[in-house]
Amino acid sequence: MPSMNHLLELEGVSREQVATILDLAREFKAVSQRRIKKVPTLRGITVVLFFIEPSTRTRLSFEVAAKRLSADTLSFTASSSSLSKGETLLDTARNLMAMKPDVVVLRHFASGACHFLARSIPAAIVNAGDGAHEHPTQGLLDMFTMREHKGSLDKLEVAVVGDIRHSRVARSNIQGLLTMGARVRVAGPRTMLPPMLDRLGVRVFDRIEPAIEGADVVMMLRIQKERMGNDLFPSDREYARVFGLDATRLGLAKPDAIVMHPGPMNRGVEITPDVADCGRSVILEQVENGVAVRMAVLYLLSAHLLEG
Ligand code: CP
Repeated sequence: MPSMNHLLELEGVSREQVATILDLAREFKAVSQRRIKKVPTLRGITVVLFFIEPSTRTRLSFEVAAKRLSADTLSFTASSSSLSKGETLLDTARNLMAMKPDVVVLRHFASGACHFLARSIPAAIVNAGDGAHEHPTQGLLDMFTMREHKGSLDKLEVAVVGDIRHSRVARSNIQGLLTMGARVRVAGPRTMLPPMLDRLGVRVFDRIEPAIEGADVVMMLRIQKERMGNDLFPSDREYARVFGLDATRLGLAKPDAIVMHPGPMNRGVEITPDVADCGRSVILEQVENGVAVRMAVLYLLSAHLLEG
């Protein structure tokens, strides 16, 4: 199994590398289905969970993933650390390194923060979401979930709908899915579509209906209000009316299409509660698969440190 130095983005990660991570995640998913959900694989490895932005799913699933592999974890958030007293990211990271961690999992509001850390400290860095740039493990767990349901990502028709402009999840999915041979359509209000998106090789729509028509996968995204300078749409109600996924619109997708959402969901805005909870929704499977994918990533980043 090849090792990796860092996981900062899916841009530039090869088809073979993605397949390796997803195949390994399938092996690790079996660990979580046992009665004793723990293996000694990463005993002696220390993983720091360094979350400068709020998170429920990513932080907890990295922690569960590390613990299921018997790694030690240190976890801290901005409000509970000396960052709130003005300490810089670099000084905080240097102090962390004095405690000799092997892997640092970073979520940060600034795009590029993970690249900065990777250049600055001698630990393997995992990007757990940096600004509007990328969220590579979310892209990987989404592809893992699609592959479980559809068998292959090749030629899969995937519609990603919502606030594409501010979404690191959209960016990682687009990069990963195109690498794996899927066909990606994106849709959202024009104010939430970044310029020159079509140059990436995706089809771009400013209405939801043509984007989800005949799709195998419909992925809905939250409006990232925390990253918007100004309001880019009139109201939540108007957004729901024009871009929300309801049962009627889902009827345009293939009959066996699956519904995905990275969370957190705003029920009644981008997705109606009945669709979020319907039999075609795999939203909680995405969370379960997040643990398996993050176990695979932690393994590939640190197993070589235990050799010899
Ligand atoms: N999908 C995702 O990143 O969720 P959290 O913000 O809760 O980690």
